[in-house]
Amino acid sequence: LVPTPTVRLATPDDLVAVAAIQSASREASQWNPSDYLDHDFRVAIVGNTITGFVVFRRITEDEREILNLAVAPEFRRKGIGNILISTCFEGFRGDVFLEVRASNTTAIKFYKSLNFKILNIRHNYYDSPPEAAIVMKFHSC
Ligand SMILES: CC(C)(COP(=O)(O)OP(=O)(O)OC[C@H]1O[C@@H](n2cnc3c(N)ncnc32)[C@H](O)[C@@H]1OP(=O)(O)O)[C@@H](O)C(=O)NCCC(=O)NCCS
Repeated sequence: LVPTPTVRLATPDDLVAVAAIQSASREASQWNPSDYLDHDFRVAIVGNTITGFVVFRRITEDEREILNLAVAPEFRRKGIGNILISTCFEGFRGDVFLEVRASNTTAIKFYKSLNFKILNIRHNYYDSPPEAAIVMKFHSC
């Protein structure tokens, strides 16, 4: 087991580490990492190492959308994804939405383990490769 990670807001100094985690996580959306700074963008730290990141946006006072989430492959399955999501939505009351590729069964299992429910399926939502999006929602209260 790894020591409990801490989660903090990301800064421009974190972008190199975030880009490396993103490129090692092909199932994650591939953004220009500096665009994450326009949103609510947080990193998980273990010791001195950035082990994962989450990006979400505020749609309204009581709606949030997760834009991206990834944990470094060597740190997966240690509760870091769980801590990133839990920390971000602690104290928040409302709905959290996300879209995930239908083939990303790991992420779908992960979100289900956190009590996200499947809301609907958007066929042909993604390009290269074309694929459906599973829309999931979590109600935080
Ligand atoms: C999805 C992801 C963020 C999960 O992060 P993580 O830190 O490994 O997840 P956690 O350790 O917090 O897992 C919490 C629970 O999710 C479920 N889970 C996570 N990974 C799983 C897997 N590979 N298979 C089955 N269940 C899994 C389990 O229930 C797990 O609890 P357990 O380990 O006690 O059984 C990580 O796999 C990842 O970065 N994937 C690539 C990027 C990606 O797909 N992002 C999603 C974009 S929408």
